Amino acid sequence: MAPKDLVFQVSHNDSPMPAAERDAILADPPFGSVFTDHMVDICWSEKGGWHRPRVQPYGPIAMDPAAAVLHYGQEIFEGLKAYRHADGSIWSFRPDQNALRMQRSAKRMALPELPADYFLESLKQLIAVDGAWVPSAPEMSLYIRPYMYAKEAFLGVRAAKKVAFYIIAAPAGPYFSGGVKPVSIWLSTDYSRAGKGGTGQAKTGGNYAASLVAQAEAAEHGCAQVLFLDSVEGKYLEELGGMNIVLVYKDGRVVTPQSDTILQGITRDSILQLAEDAGHTVERRPVTLEEWRDGVESGDIVEAFACGTAAVVTPIGQLKSKDFTIGDLDQPAGPLTLALREKLTDIQYGRQPDPYGWMFRL
Ligand code: PLP
Ligand code: COI
Repeated sequence: MAPKDLVFQVSHNDSPMPAAERDAILADPPFGSVFTDHMVDICWSEKGGWHRPRVQPYGPIAMDPAAAVLHYGQEIFEGLKAYRHADGSIWSFRPDQNALRMQRSAKRMALPELPADYFLESLKQLIAVDGAWVPSAPEMSLYIRPYMYAKEAFLGVRAAKKVAFYIIAAPAGPYFSGGVKPVSIWLSTDYSRAGKGGTGQAKTGGNYAASLVAQAEAAEHGCAQVLFLDSVEGKYLEELGGMNIVLVYKDGRVVTPQSDTILQGITRDSILQLAEDAGHTVERRPVTLEEWRDGVESGDIVEAFACGTAAVVTPIGQLKSKDFTIGDLDQPAGPLTLALREKLTDIQYGRQPDPYGWMFRL
């Protein structure tokens, strides 16, 4: 049920992408570079609160050159997916958690909190007009990107009094081109992603901007992602540029870094629940780089994987740095990594029951 005060004004795109062209894209979509025909837009102002919810044709946004986001980066975003089940119905995965995380990000970035029911209704409104964009090919999905930014034209440094919330969407295939093949990751020693008391837990553009040069360094070394360490001691594992990290011990323990400077991933939270329910001991605690290196060398750590909405669950085959390389890219993906990936995607694609009530019908 839509919140009572939330009535969307819908204007349809009168030149949507022709169905044949769209279907060709859906058969093998790139990640995040082709967008659906519509977008959602809700305004906020200090005086009027959230108002004027709209669905409109996808297209350029007019923005004042003095809009605060362009100068001070007051912006947050979310990422989630829509999945088509065998009966044609369309579902998303724990979108209530994205709504709550967006509220936490908003608090940290001095932006207004969008009520969770507005967030969920906005997703439904977009799918109501762009449902045909949700792929039905296996392992494909529609990646949904809600975001919010400071649009007030004002160069003083303070929280903006005018803000925009949008949702756009793009059909998505695998984030990494090799599919579920193990990837290699680069350890960043020159750059940190987030500092103590900073914005590491918020999903805000600046964290990603800060990661780009390190990500470029990773690519120069043939690695698919970059791993950041804590910025205080340079000792503890944090996360990758766009995903969380999980290690698996020979004795079945599943270990993931706990830190208040990383994003609290919804995929990771779900995977750990699945692992716990399958009888694994799950440890959320600080993890040193040394623990990982020594564990791989002694054979105690037998698997590592990255997880996130875009990455799903991606095995990590190798960790490279200026000084050392551990792991072997030629090794096949670990059995627990693959089993957890399958359990998660079976729920997301409706191939297995959803005992946790994670799926939300759009
Ligand atoms: N860490 C970072 C930096 C991310 O960008 C993401 C992706 O959203 C994640 C972790 C994983 O979060 P989630 O599983 O909620 O997508
Ligand atoms: C996501 O997984 O939703 C992200 O935001 C990460 C990014 C690498 C696309």
